[in-house]
Amino acid sequence: MFAIPLGDGAELRPLEPWQAEEFLAHIDRGRAYIGAHVGLPDVAADLESARDWLRSYADKAAADSGRLYGIWLDGVLVGGVLFRVFDAGAGTCEAGCWLEPDATGRGLATRAAAVIIDWAVRERGIHRVEWQVSSENTASINVARRLGMTRDGVLRENYPFRGVRQTTEVWSVLAPEWPPIRV
Ligand SMILES: CC(C)(COP(=O)(O)OP(=O)(O)OC[C@H]1O[C@@H](n2cnc3c(N)ncnc32)[C@H](O)[C@@H]1OP(=O)(O)O)[C@@H](O)C(=O)NCCC(=O)NCCS
Repeated sequence: MFAIPLGDGAELRPLEPWQAEEFLAHIDRGRAYIGAHVGLPDVAADLESARDWLRSYADKAAADSGRLYGIWLDGVLVGGVLFRVFDAGAGTCEAGCWLEPDATGRGLATRAAAVIIDWAVRERGIHRVEWQVSSENTASINVARRLGMTRDGVLRENYPFRGVRQTTEVWSVLAPEWPPIRV
């Protein structure tokens, strides 16, 4: 399949509904770690819901309102990057990422996010790429920093997550600021 090399044996590829079993096995390996701050493991609870979630992104891609890509390391699906929201008309989008624990600490999320942000800014004319992250999620905040993003502000206790209201930090990078000096 089409693949973009990320270095060190890693590749960025489309992640589609037919890969639901592989996706679920990956989520199962990282369920506790990935779910510490985000609800992805909850929406991929079993094979049917995993396939539904992948299908929702296939629908978003068809409508040009979102995108989803997987990160494979030595042939194993270990994470992904996405545009949860994509609005070419307004020139705005929201990006995100996740990895299973064994794939962290290598720069994969930052490099994969840089690839899709580059596409959004250079090919699609997106002006503002947003990153929404729990204020407790230091690893993801560090990804935003490495992507050259600026902290716009916080949405205090805006997100009810497993019974606790999380505060969300909003980070962004604008087209004239892209690419950062070093990703
Ligand atoms: C957010 C998440 C993807 C970050 O993972 P990560 O491995 O820290 O991020 P990267 O893949 O960009 O790797 C960066 C780390 O690799 C290190 N690294 C090693 N080689 C590197 C290289 N060639 N390039 C860049 N960084 C490299 C960096 O120093 C950094 O480690 P540090 O934070 O200890 O300094 C991960 O914590 C995760 O999946 N969390 C759960 C899901 C989640 O919360 N997603 C975000 C929702 S907003």
